[in-house]
Amino acid sequence: MQAKVVVVGSLNMDLVTRAERLPRAGETLAGKSFSTVPGGKGANQAVAAARLGAHVAMVGCVGEDAYGEQLRAALVDEQIDCEAVTAVAGVSSGVALIVVDASSQNAIVIVAGGNGRLTPEVMVGFDSKLAEADVIICQLEVPMDTVAHTLKRGRELGKIVILNPAPVIGPLPAGWFPLIDYVIPNESEATALTGVSVDSLASAEAAASKLLEAGASKVIITLGALGSLFADGQSFQHFPAPKVQAVDTTAAGDTFVGGFAAALARGQSESQAIGFGQIAAALSVTRAGAQPSIPTLNDVQSFHQP
Ligand code: RIB
Repeated sequence: MQAKVVVVGSLNMDLVTRAERLPRAGETLAGKSFSTVPGGKGANQAVAAARLGAHVAMVGCVGEDAYGEQLRAALVDEQIDCEAVTAVAGVSSGVALIVVDASSQNAIVIVAGGNGRLTPEVMVGFDSKLAEADVIICQLEVPMDTVAHTLKRGRELGKIVILNPAPVIGPLPAGWFPLIDYVIPNESEATALTGVSVDSLASAEAAASKLLEAGASKVIITLGALGSLFADGQSFQHFPAPKVQAVDTTAAGDTFVGGFAAALARGQSESQAIGFGQIAAALSVTRAGAQPSIPTLNDVQSFHQP
């Protein structure tokens, strides 16, 4: 049977504009294009894991609106089990307002909407989904007590537990670290978690050391074009990124996390899974949008660095 990845997290409709640069405070800027694209860190990670070889179930909430229907349909199209994706009355679906600039960097504002209704009480009703998992992934676009509940249940059930602490504004609760196997922040999240300004391999090592001191077992800091840094308290390992022409970095981190989880669930080693996730993430930045940019298993397996 195909290995199972269960994602507990957000579904957002991304409202995406492309502009020459990101607007300054108080400024009105003309955009070049507009599109609505299924996204949300949780849903993106679910799609990545599914396209990259895992059987996937999603646990999340949308509003009872058109976006909610489209977000769910996008996951169903990927053969993702959506029994635990609930439509909630009286709230909009989650949305993300995204500006992508000429250098392919983005700025994102999210409105939680239905994602805020994924409470621990809702989770209790879907405990069987967690029990079926090989790997459980959480992010921080749903309520913190829901993440805490999921990490705890994941540990009790003996699953591989991954936390992508995104978005984050400060340190994680200390009690979470023993519940997590892999903490996977990007540079800015690692900076917010540790106070170390992460902009190089050396600073990533310093930030990873702080996370290990705080109680993390294994840390992977994704560093964009610099690749990623793995730390487990024994050693640091740097994984250089494949070189590609970036078009849009939205969901690159999600693609890494979903790909890493799918590879682990298929029994690959950590190193293989990190390398696999990095190729998947690199391919995703060559395409626009969140879920449309995520590659398939075949894309990754046939990738050769030119
Ligand atoms: O990580 C990218 C995602 O962040 C976007 O799809 C957007 O929905 C926000 O959640």
